[in-house]
Amino acid sequence: MEIQKLFFFFASVFCVKVEGEVGTHHFVSQALRWTDAQTHCRKYYTDLSSVNDQKHTEKILKAAAGQKSLNWSTAWIGLYRDPTNATRWKWSGGGYVTHTNWAKGQPNNIGNKQNRGTTYSNGRWNDAEENVALPFFCIKISVMNYEKKTWEEALEHCREEHSDLISIASETDRLLAQTEMQRNDLTEPVWIGLRFLADQWLWVDGKTMMYKAWPQGGDEDHQCPTWRRCGALTVEGLWGNYNCEEKRYFLCK
Ligand SMILES: *[C@@H]1O[C@H](CO)[C@@H](O)[C@H](O)[C@H]1NC(C)=O
Ligand SMILES: *[C@@H]1O[C@H](CO)[C@@H](O)[C@H](O)[C@H]1NC(C)=O
Repeated sequence: MEIQKLFFFFASVFCVKVEGEVGTHHFVSQALRWTDAQTHCRKYYTDLSSVNDQKHTEKILKAAAGQKSLNWSTAWIGLYRDPTNATRWKWSGGGYVTHTNWAKGQPNNIGNKQNRGTTYSNGRWNDAEENVALPFFCIKISVMNYEKKTWEEALEHCREEHSDLISIASETDRLLAQTEMQRNDLTEPVWIGLRFLADQWLWVDGKTMMYKAWPQGGDEDHQCPTWRRCGALTVEGLWGNYNCEEKRYFLCK
């Protein structure tokens, strides 16, 4: 990509929010270099955004692009080239990129210097040099650690805020949520949107369960839980099943 072809028209810095599965994506119109954008996201949100499926990408971008005043063509996301393997990409929040959405002919790694990833406003990705200043997307997971609640109360609380308990759809989501727990010094499991209903574990936001992070071994009670039918994320970043009436902190999108 030629940098000279990028044009941005920003009146001021502002932000558009769009809900994802694990958190809320925020478009930040301030143009920063990738590393500075990452620092900004880690300070004020959770991390640079990761996008694990195409439908989801398009939804985020449509909402950001839908704001007429936000005339942007390219923005940073959390994509970066694996320093140990130039053909592999990782997410700033952790984990490898499993689904890709590169624009035609990308990543072309011009000059062997394009080690970071952007998204165009059509949702397609491009590789770019980290020193280019661009607007960016951050993701925020909200840790609700003011008052412990039962799983149902936690769900109700998130929904009152027009949100939901989070669902975890990938290794990257899991690591982002764990990071946010650690940042808030949480040492006990926190409720997530995981619920055992009609003989199976479901996400309360209706997301299909593809990715699973139950611990290996142990009592395996989650396979057929009698009482412990609500899911929480443990400090180890794994899922645990607990009695829904227990009061815990929780994670909203
Ligand atoms: C957005 O930018 C394009 C040029 O890239 C320009 O033609 C168009 O008028 C701009 N739209 C708004 C609403 O500013
Ligand atoms: C680099 O990553 C690619 C894509 O994941 C993989 O196919 C290849 O085996 C890796 N190469 C090395 C040397 O690990």
